[in-house]
Amino acid sequence: MAAITQFPAAFEICKPFMLTDQQMQEIVVRLNKEINMGLGRDTHARAVVKCYITHVHDLPSGNERGRFLALDLGGTNFRVLLVTLSSDSDVDILSKSYVMDKSLLVGPGRALFDFIAECLSNFCKEQNIDKEEMPLGFTFSFPVQQIGLDKGILTSWTKGFKCEGVIGKNVVELLQHAIERRGDVKIKIVAILNDTTGTLVSCAYKQRNCRIGLIVGTGSNACYMERTGNTEMYEGYQTSNKPNMIVNTEWGAFGDNGVLDFVRTSYDKRIDQESINPHKQTFEKCISGMYMGELVRLIIVDLMEQGAIFKNLKSQSIYEKWRFETSFISEIESDEPGHHRNCANILDQLGIRGATDNDMQCVQAICETISTRSAKLVSCGLVCLINKMNAKDCAIGIDGGVYRFHPKYHDLLVDNMTKLLRGSAKFELLLSEDGSGRGAALIASVAASRKK
Ligand code: BGC
Repeated sequence: MAAITQFPAAFEICKPFMLTDQQMQEIVVRLNKEINMGLGRDTHARAVVKCYITHVHDLPSGNERGRFLALDLGGTNFRVLLVTLSSDSDVDILSKSYVMDKSLLVGPGRALFDFIAECLSNFCKEQNIDKEEMPLGFTFSFPVQQIGLDKGILTSWTKGFKCEGVIGKNVVELLQHAIERRGDVKIKIVAILNDTTGTLVSCAYKQRNCRIGLIVGTGSNACYMERTGNTEMYEGYQTSNKPNMIVNTEWGAFGDNGVLDFVRTSYDKRIDQESINPHKQTFEKCISGMYMGELVRLIIVDLMEQGAIFKNLKSQSIYEKWRFETSFISEIESDEPGHHRNCANILDQLGIRGATDNDMQCVQAICETISTRSAKLVSCGLVCLINKMNAKDCAIGIDGGVYRFHPKYHDLLVDNMTKLLRGSAKFELLLSEDGSGRGAALIASVAASRKK
């Protein structure tokens, strides 16, 4: 792969994205400080990294049994799953994805929940479970202040969602009411959880030392096992006999108070201004799939304007906002060394025909710059959590399209984390299979048994 240094104009633009070891260490220190603010009773209100308590104390025991519905909402698709837990190794999952019209993401909340209830009802009828009382675990992947296992208040929308009338409300109630308005299925929402929590819980089902759940997909976030005594926002934090609690960090908001400005580039600021949630989710905007492609696009456009790439070639599409998908980065970086088959295909889709090998090498090097920075930032986050838990040997369950499909993301994480940890802890990164669904069922099972 060609180094970015071979392309002076691109190198000039990309330099600020190249994090030094020192900057990375500083990010670890700053995140740790923000997390402590989120956890603390006196500091939580003004904290930006909220560290929401999840009310999930226990990792699965392997004895969970039963049939549960799960709902996974957090991207442009959402899924309904029927999960059967029948032995500690046997989990049967039947699922269906539903495409949501973009207008639903920014329309009234009631329309969103009515649509979800309709899909749930159709699913139950297809599976012949519409007459059965079904407990449901709701994976809702947005910042939620959890009041209990089955009560969560949405504090802000992220990732392109902006439905009116939902912030400040208990989303479990909004969905339960939508289900009841239809009155054609007997679903009871017993738990609400974040996708990171689902990922951690479902990984821990298989790997006992799993302590962190990470998502690097459309958005980014992580949760981890904190000592209950440190979760000051939990009423019983001093008296609980449960040693641990999963904390949903909502690290996507890290930097919303300016503490990451020392590493943000002018491109990050542009992305932020173009987004539907300016000044929010600063860390996420440097990391996640919703934004990586757009960063690459903005850089390419600037280079075109300088005449440093695609000389004399025209493309309308490249000037369209959000047109360069993050999946393109994974495809371009998957090209065999010395070949540019995927890159040429993608440029073709963007109407750029006749690009030189040099141009394509440059595009590849830009993609590499953006994905490497993303992985470095995530590495800082993970190392911060490992240090915080003082974990000596821990597994991390990971989900999300960026981690799953990018050819080098896993190795980038391993290399950067190893460097930052300097031998102080061992870790293992595990791809989670269907974490949100399986995790939702496991937590629903815990909730259902607590109710009994
Ligand atoms: C949300 C998190 C979620 C993450 C990954 C972020 O935008 O705020 O709650 O876990 O995306 O889906």
